[in-house]
Amino acid sequence: MGGSPADLVARQCLTPSPPLPPSPTRGEGGEVSAPLPSSTRGDGGQQLPSPLVGEGQGVGGQLPSPLVGEGQGVVGGQLPSPRVGEGQGVGGKQPRVRKDPRDLRILDPAAGSGHFLLYCFDLLLAIYEEAWARQDGAPSYGPTGQTLHADYPTLEALRRAVPALILRHNLYAVDIDPRARQICALALWLRAQRAYQMHGLKRDERTMIDRVNAVCAEPMPGDAALLAEFAATLEPPVLGQLVRGLFERMRLAGEAGSLLRIEADLRGAIAEAKRQWRERPTYMQAGLFGDEPLTIEQVGLFDVRAISDEQFWDHTEGMVLAALQRYAERAEDGLGYRRRLFADDAASGFAFVDLCRQRYDVVLMNPPFGAASKGWKAAFEQAYPRTKNDLYAAFVERGLALLHPGGMLGAITSRTGFFLTSFQKWREEILLKAGRPTIVADLGYGVLDTAMVETAAYVLEKNDG
Ligand SMILES: C[S@@+](CC[C@H](N)C(=O)[O-])C[C@H]1O[C@@H](n2cnc3c(N)ncnc32)[C@H](O)[C@@H]1O
Repeated sequence: MGGSPADLVARQCLTPSPPLPPSPTRGEGGEVSAPLPSSTRGDGGQQLPSPLVGEGQGVGGQLPSPLVGEGQGVVGGQLPSPRVGEGQGVGGKQPRVRKDPRDLRILDPAAGSGHFLLYCFDLLLAIYEEAWARQDGAPSYGPTGQTLHADYPTLEALRRAVPALILRHNLYAVDIDPRARQICALALWLRAQRAYQMHGLKRDERTMIDRVNAVCAEPMPGDAALLAEFAATLEPPVLGQLVRGLFERMRLAGEAGSLLRIEADLRGAIAEAKRQWRERPTYMQAGLFGDEPLTIEQVGLFDVRAISDEQFWDHTEGMVLAALQRYAERAEDGLGYRRRLFADDAASGFAFVDLCRQRYDVVLMNPPFGAASKGWKAAFEQAYPRTKNDLYAAFVERGLALLHPGGMLGAITSRTGFFLTSFQKWREEILLKAGRPTIVADLGYGVLDTAMVETAAYVLEKNDG
């Protein structure tokens, strides 16, 4: 292992031993557009990994085997109960509103090679089928208003789509280690191929996997000359300012990772950019909605004040990404390759910002523990005054903040937080105020591989306030 900050932190983390044996993972076919490790692309351009996965081998031998098969429940035939919304809520609270499965989001903010999300994948296979089978009062999918059944009228149609739906809509991963991110994306992609295989779907019957939401938190590309050149292409200039501000704020992303509150840091910059945008003539303000010419009536109706800061960011981000694409295609001065790399890295940075702007139904993790790295320590202590004594305490605070009210956080960490005085604020203000423990298991030694650390696993429900 090298000496990068990612390596240093990664050394402090261990993964719970997966209880399931390795299983065959070699998928056959399907495509993936998620940035899988380029060194692993082979197999006739299908972008299948070769060095990492051989016939009959899992990734590091640690992919879980299929838990849900035809006519089988999850884990020994016991179907989990995703029927939230039925019957009574937990602890006498109002039951959560049932959602279309495509509206569920699960985040692992320190995902490593993605074991937790692989288990979630299996659970989601069951959730989709159960939700599909229940047609009475089925919730509809937020963006389209369509129910699952309306979009997939037969079970076969559903099964052809679900693996890709899970990767596109449900599972989100962040890590500061680029290799971990690659392995996580690959493992999820392979798991999706196995789900297709399980249902006997041939290559041309599978829905293409066009997205895996696994991102690496890292600083934006450091080439100041290219940043200046790119920012100068942005019109109006306020977009250039916004991009420069984002690059600056992402400086610590490689160390802070998911703990970087980039969405909050950007709030002021977005509000300022919006204010400046408003000072332009209306017909120019309307350019926010793309290059398509607007009708006179549309322009007359347009007022940037009427859109939220969130929507403003969505549109400006779209414009910047389109500009990055154009920039990557510029080949003059022999700088084409460097521009492409710059654009790719910057686009990954935007993907990280997007993940931080989302709110989730579930956050699951076994985060790193110990002290923050030297370069980031001061900023960390300022950002997390109540939990600065240990990274894992801060991860719990951050994880709760990333949830919807009523969302659930599951963590396995050291158990010290439950009794050391240095964690008093964590207990009082995070565990018992921001959240509410619904279950705590004091596990002791022997859970995290060979690590000599006593652990606890717990679930917190985020409080509404
Ligand atoms: C114990 S491992 C998690 C293992 C994971 N559950 C799995 O299934 O492989 C912790 C991970 O957190 C990552 N990490 C450390 N600091 C981080 C940060 N600030 N933000 C995001 N990820 C971080 C490490 O690179 C490491 O992969």
